[in-house]
Amino acid sequence: MSEKAVLTFRDKKIELPVLVGTDGEVAIDITKLRDQTGMITFDPGLGNTGACSSSITYIDGDKGILRYRGIPIEQFTNHPNFVEVAWLLIFGRLPKRDELKAFSEQLTENELLHEGLKHQFQHLPVDAPPMAILSATLSNLACYHQGFLALEDTEALTAAAARLISKVRTIAAFSYRRSRGWPIIYPDPKMRYCANFLHMMFSIPFQQYIVTPEVEDALNLIFILHADHEQNCSTSTVRTVGSAKANLFASCAAGVSALWGPLHGGANVEVIQMLERIHAGGLSPESCIEAAKDKANPFRLSGFGHRVYKNYDPRAKILHECCDRVFSSLNRQDPLLDIARKLEELALQDSYFIDRKLYPNVDFYSGILLRAMGLPTNMFTVCFAIGRLPGWIAQWKEQHDDPSTRITRPRQVYTGNDAIDYVPMEQR
Ligand code: SDX
Repeated sequence: MSEKAVLTFRDKKIELPVLVGTDGEVAIDITKLRDQTGMITFDPGLGNTGACSSSITYIDGDKGILRYRGIPIEQFTNHPNFVEVAWLLIFGRLPKRDELKAFSEQLTENELLHEGLKHQFQHLPVDAPPMAILSATLSNLACYHQGFLALEDTEALTAAAARLISKVRTIAAFSYRRSRGWPIIYPDPKMRYCANFLHMMFSIPFQQYIVTPEVEDALNLIFILHADHEQNCSTSTVRTVGSAKANLFASCAAGVSALWGPLHGGANVEVIQMLERIHAGGLSPESCIEAAKDKANPFRLSGFGHRVYKNYDPRAKILHECCDRVFSSLNRQDPLLDIARKLEELALQDSYFIDRKLYPNVDFYSGILLRAMGLPTNMFTVCFAIGRLPGWIAQWKEQHDDPSTRITRPRQVYTGNDAIDYVPMEQR
């Protein structure tokens, strides 16, 4: 007999069904609450509300666990392959060799942009924010691939996913080249996913950018670690837009806009800017920790804290370890990494952070790694979006394939005027 929750309020007492997730997480099903009681729940930020059931990603924030389709992310760190993880997230299992080969070939076939789309870059201001370009261009893909606006079967979704996942790199690289006033570099069909992105970013005519195995592995790992993360702000945005039956391109473009926010994907930019200010100002990490704790001080320790993780973000741990490998392979030092490490050391022994369970999150080290690879700060959140795209597609597909999906339309508690009359201008 399935368990029930009992809600008693005034003269009403109702039983509510209970859902229990794979790991024993309990959810009270309130889908009939308003019909039965006339009442709604109230949960700004939705921190206590399950918006859907999903089998894609699992996080245990207390234990610092993150699994993609049940596989702990730590198991992707040896020979990281972002395209393989993208397929796993979207189709629910690890691809067979021929499936992965076929998907990689589809990515290669779709790496170019329509020349009409390419020309739009020439009319953009050179200082146009890359996230604005990315969101607009992903939406514009709907103009050039109108056959994918209605995705009726898995073959069509696979084709649309290949276009998005492949072209997002090209769009990102072209926007960077435009911002530098450099000629664009076309993708090389002989190159693997991450190496091709770095090639388009950094090669110059007649001088190919050489990608070291350590850097290629590190970029695969960065994209994998950003690939999905349950119902975060940008993924919830993609689901909300998709719930209205809007097309996949428009839904992912909306996800880019949500990710841009400094409280979300934009935090990796905030972290580097914070570290640069500390370094340039000769500030002591100790004084920054005190500032972050001072409510009267607007300073916050960017890259710290998380709505779900109340333990060390497992992605931050992996990226921190990756820094050592990449920096030694590039024979590079970065004072910002030393500052980041000191801030982490101080915060993890400070009661303010301990009591609030504030730990480094994925953004704390990702920017330092991307910076070591030569990526400019304004491309960090774009890299987050490249990584997160397969997760958005997987979540959009899961919702699209669910016949019980309804359009997302939350309620509210109205606190405005009671009924009043219109006042003609001469009487105001
Ligand atoms: C991502 O959701 C996801 O999964 C996101 C993400 C993904 O993969 O999609 O993981 C990616 O967005 C990671 C988070 C990146 N953002 C940042 O690093 C920005 C800095 N962090 C904070 O803004 C904050 O921690 C959030 C936004 C991440 C979480 O906000 P919450 O859950 O609403 O927590 P809160 O703001 O209510 O903070 C609780 C307490 C407060 O103090 P009190 O009022 O209890 O005294 O902790 C304090 C906050 O002031 N606090 C911080 C802090 N973060 C929270 N104090 C100092 N520095 C910080 N960074």
